[in-house]
Amino acid sequence: YSPSSSSSSSSYNATQQRLPGAIIIGVRKGGTRALLEMLNLHPDVEVAKAEVHYFNVEEHYRRGLAWYRAQMPFTLPGQLTVEKTPGYFAAPQVPARVWDMNPAVQLLLIVRDPAERLVSDYTQVLHNRLTRHKPYQPLEELLLHKGHIDPGYKALQRSLYHQHLARWLEVFPREQIHVVDGDALIRDPFPELRKAERFLDLPPRINPSNFYYNTTKGFYCLLSAGHDKCLDESKGRPHAPLSTQALKKLCRYFRKPNKLFFEMVGRSFSWC
Ligand code: A3P
Repeated sequence: YSPSSSSSSSSYNATQQRLPGAIIIGVRKGGTRALLEMLNLHPDVEVAKAEVHYFNVEEHYRRGLAWYRAQMPFTLPGQLTVEKTPGYFAAPQVPARVWDMNPAVQLLLIVRDPAERLVSDYTQVLHNRLTRHKPYQPLEELLLHKGHIDPGYKALQRSLYHQHLARWLEVFPREQIHVVDGDALIRDPFPELRKAERFLDLPPRINPSNFYYNTTKGFYCLLSAGHDKCLDESKGRPHAPLSTQALKKLCRYFRKPNKLFFEMVGRSFSWC
């Protein structure tokens, strides 16, 4: 056997593309990119750089698992492949499809104050519209109808975590879904990463020294092997304004759904 023969260097090194052992399923604007990049600091983790949208986009799903696998990074045996697609969490067809792929897959769900998440969601859509020179209504016009919260507003529905999680729990046992506190990840990422390592059965390799607070960005950035990396400017941008009155209504609206979510996950969060 000669390693320099016809086999490619990647197969010589036994690297292969493998299906994910863990998936960050959402929520959109919860801090999914930060969590993925931070997990990637771990030597035993390799991540799919782009969102894959396999289980939620019919055109992709029809292409089958070979296509899905081809979107994954090359890994050594024993390394964990992780992908993140925030659109999975709220898409009804996704939980059963993920189960069909691998009923033992580990799921990560990063949540954030639902009112804050809604404003972040609106801000992202607004930004995308403006860059395409398209107009967009002010947030309060979308959020309020005759002075009351409009339950039909999509970004509001995406913040009803208990409704979406209920569908996942019809398919997966609670222990298979690890909930990450997105607000805590912003304030101090290391403790959340340590908990995620434990959930994923990874040896503790991510350290406090992998993070430093960047005062210019106003967020933590990553340090690894002498490289310094902040998330791009679409992460952590200023939010569209919302009046105190509207925010109060929103917080009141979320009170019951939040309580249901806390019961479902067996812990509470200090959300508005
Ligand atoms: P905002 O832009 O509203 O502040 P996602 O990657 O799921 O789209 O989430 C984006 C959110 O990740 C950002 O929302 C930001 O608050 C949060 N985030 C968490 N940690 C971050 C970090 N270290 N750098 C930048 N954004 C971070």
